[in-house]
Amino acid sequence: MSGSAADAAARWFTECYAAEPDGVWHAPGRVNLIGEHTDYNEGFVLPFALSQGVRAAASRRDDGLLELRSRQAPDDAAAVPLGALAPGLPGGWAAYPAGVAWALLGTGRPVGGASIAIDADLERGAALSSSAALECATALALTELYGLSVDRRDLAALARRAENEFVGVPSGIMDQSASLLCEQGHALLLDCRSGESSAVPLDLAAVGLVLLVIDTRVRHALSDGRYAERRRSCEDAARALGVASLRDVTDALDGIERVDRLSDPVLRRRARHVVTENARVLETVGLLRAGEATRIGPLLTASHVSLRDDFEISWPQADATVEAAVASGALGARMTGGGFGGSVIALVPTPASGVVRAGIEDAYAGRGWKPPRFLDALPSAGAHRLR
Ligand code: GLA
Repeated sequence: MSGSAADAAARWFTECYAAEPDGVWHAPGRVNLIGEHTDYNEGFVLPFALSQGVRAAASRRDDGLLELRSRQAPDDAAAVPLGALAPGLPGGWAAYPAGVAWALLGTGRPVGGASIAIDADLERGAALSSSAALECATALALTELYGLSVDRRDLAALARRAENEFVGVPSGIMDQSASLLCEQGHALLLDCRSGESSAVPLDLAAVGLVLLVIDTRVRHALSDGRYAERRRSCEDAARALGVASLRDVTDALDGIERVDRLSDPVLRRRARHVVTENARVLETVGLLRAGEATRIGPLLTASHVSLRDDFEISWPQADATVEAAVASGALGARMTGGGFGGSVIALVPTPASGVVRAGIEDAYAGRGWKPPRFLDALPSAGAHRLR
């Protein structure tokens, strides 16, 4: 993370509050390499942190007020006494950072007032976890401002609680874990049942590959009900199979045969996605650890097909991007994130990246869609203090 991003956030703080901030903290967005909609099924995920993310420049204040401003929403400031924080107050973007303060207070941690100025270089709604980055930057800022030592896994759980209970989005633990626990040059294998995680080397350049992130420019919102609906189907499928969660089916030797015996065709498809996706995560990790990153492409594409046909959460631009990427030389491609909008990733031999980009751009132009955006995705460090 460059010093200039820290300086820009500090300058924004000074514009907002006419003072220097006590500190500046950064939390990254993430790309999920593979393992989609598995986290709330107690399964496996494999995200990595981006270099892009959210900065929180912040200072303590002694009047018990939490004041929140964002350079990305300059007309939408919030100032709420800590004691008055409650789901719905504040709403909008400020609910994410405010929810973190509320969650910290809810566990008896003595955070006090703060002035926070947010700055970000991550698009919202692009499925790159801008919300989790906002939560995690705030969580680090508040805990460090008040000298609280909170283990990063606990901090991820608190940030998730803010999103689930304060904002009202029933998301899993992947995004906050990625933002807080990822390491530079690595993806993070997270077992969402045990909470155990390990760093998996992801040096694609060393094997002549690049991972393109393609923002399809279709915006998604996890709060629109379809995410929650998928989650409920997974719980219904687990109940019909007589297990606590679909992870138990993954672990069973006859897992997929059991799923195929489910009588409800929708639950059967949803469960099939989760069980096969968990297997694909573990296979991907095996290949990466064996230095065989060039062989993970088909797993990425299989994940997309499963999300498209069984989980039914892809969208036309995502399907067209995957198809165009693979047709023009990508080794594999898939949608990433919660679905219904956002971004696609494509694993591409470096010399072919121009051709693949052009192939995708042509596919959009041919359909009259607004052009996609391409992002650099370098496996980066998790959240940290910048100054
Ligand atoms: C969103 C949620 C995550 C996870 C993904 C799908 O990003 O926040 O918890 O469920 O969708 O894998």
